[in-house]
Amino acid sequence: MANVIIVGAQWGDEGKGKVVDIYTEYANDVVRYQGGNNAGHTLVVGDEKTVLHLIPSGILHEGKRCIIGNGVVLDPEVFIREITNLKKKGYLKDDSQLVIDGNVHVIMPYHREIDKAREARSGARKIGTTGRGIGPTYEDKIGRRGIRLNDLVKPQVFARKLKEILPEKNFYLEKFLGQNPLSEEAILEEYSGYAQVLEKYLGRASLILNESIEAGHNILFEGAQGSLLDIDHGTYPYVTSSSTIAGGACTGAGVGPRFIDEVIGISKAYVTRVGEGPFPTELNDEMGEKLRQIGQEFGATTGRPRRTGWFDAVALREAVRTNGLTGLAITKLDVLNELDTIKICTAYSYHGDMVETFPQDPDILAECKPVYEEMEGWNSDLSGVRSYDELPEKARLYLKKLEEVTGCPIALVSVGPRRDQTMQVKNPFGSN
Ligand code: GDP
Ligand code: IMO
Ligand code: MG
Repeated sequence: MANVIIVGAQWGDEGKGKVVDIYTEYANDVVRYQGGNNAGHTLVVGDEKTVLHLIPSGILHEGKRCIIGNGVVLDPEVFIREITNLKKKGYLKDDSQLVIDGNVHVIMPYHREIDKAREARSGARKIGTTGRGIGPTYEDKIGRRGIRLNDLVKPQVFARKLKEILPEKNFYLEKFLGQNPLSEEAILEEYSGYAQVLEKYLGRASLILNESIEAGHNILFEGAQGSLLDIDHGTYPYVTSSSTIAGGACTGAGVGPRFIDEVIGISKAYVTRVGEGPFPTELNDEMGEKLRQIGQEFGATTGRPRRTGWFDAVALREAVRTNGLTGLAITKLDVLNELDTIKICTAYSYHGDMVETFPQDPDILAECKPVYEEMEGWNSDLSGVRSYDELPEKARLYLKKLEEVTGCPIALVSVGPRRDQTMQVKNPFGSN
């Protein structure tokens, strides 16, 4: 038995969806535990691409239970659209495959409006959010004025809560953000319709998962976003509003830390970032554009071009430490196929001083310059390689270097978006 957490080890979009899809084979339950539909997780099976924003990436495997844990924030409209699309493609034939925890907080129209209007108002100081209402929903959760799924499915409770909350939201929207107020009746009607659809998926993640653990089943926890977007440990304020690191899996699903066996960090063989905020190894040049084009680095949620840069071992060591990573999954190695030389940032230089640890102070980070080691590229197509030993020597040397500079062993290597374009070095479920 093994329970495994998957986290993004960079700023998101590392290929978590693909890796979760691969690891689902060994798991009984797959659980999302934080974030919401700011996430966009891409799965490619054969020639068919599926992008999931809320539903766990295990859903393409029949018979695997997928759970949305209490730590997630859920936009009902997006969730229902996702279910409809999956069913159209022939997935989710059995509704009992999917469970949503009743304590999940609901993203309301005012959350989305506030998110977008605040960003528009912030000009150059904007965060570059996905505009999905994630931050404002978590604010209300922590401020104890959120609406949970358990409230939504009780018509009287929902109506009462909305009546209490909406005047304050409309005051803020109108008087501070200069937006139109929202109609209570329209929200009531729209969300009551959602409640009827959602009701059948309601359950208790903590109970179900702990029963699963007792029965000796394997659980796979699917993180969203990335460690450097974590609300506490990320590049604040340019972060998302949840605990994206491995610890978030325990609070976001109601499972004790003693049941976690392995934590796998997903990382690209280079780095990308969407939205604003510091990014020491960013390439604002031809090489950056080349990585963007070859890697098709455009957001799965908002379609925004992703910023690109060289692998940053200083940032990755931060993820190794804050998550307690036991292994790395390196994705998109194939994107570097055509490069003659590849750079790895092993330290930063700050006013002439060497910095080996990711700075906590954003002002220091902003002035850090990457110190690079150069490696020779392998100049050959890796997309058809299926075993680690078949990789060209220079590609293996690059991977070995990544292990050395991050201090973390590699568990999986990915050389293309499809399921079969994957090499497992060490299976965290202990199956190979
Ligand atoms: P996630 O948010 O971490 O699940 O990642 P996204 O789905 O947002 O972005 C990762 C993108 O890279 C998707 O388009 C994947 O299909 C693609 N991808 C994943 N692994 C590989 C790989 O090894 N090589 C290539 N070329 N693409 C990959
Ligand atoms: P996945 O799970 C990449 C970024 C946004 C913005 C910041 C805050 O696909 O890796 P938010 O809407 O969360 O308040 O935005 O976080 N961001 C992501 N970047 N991948 C994601 O998810 C992201 N989710 C949020 O671009 O910089
Ligand atoms: Mg993504």
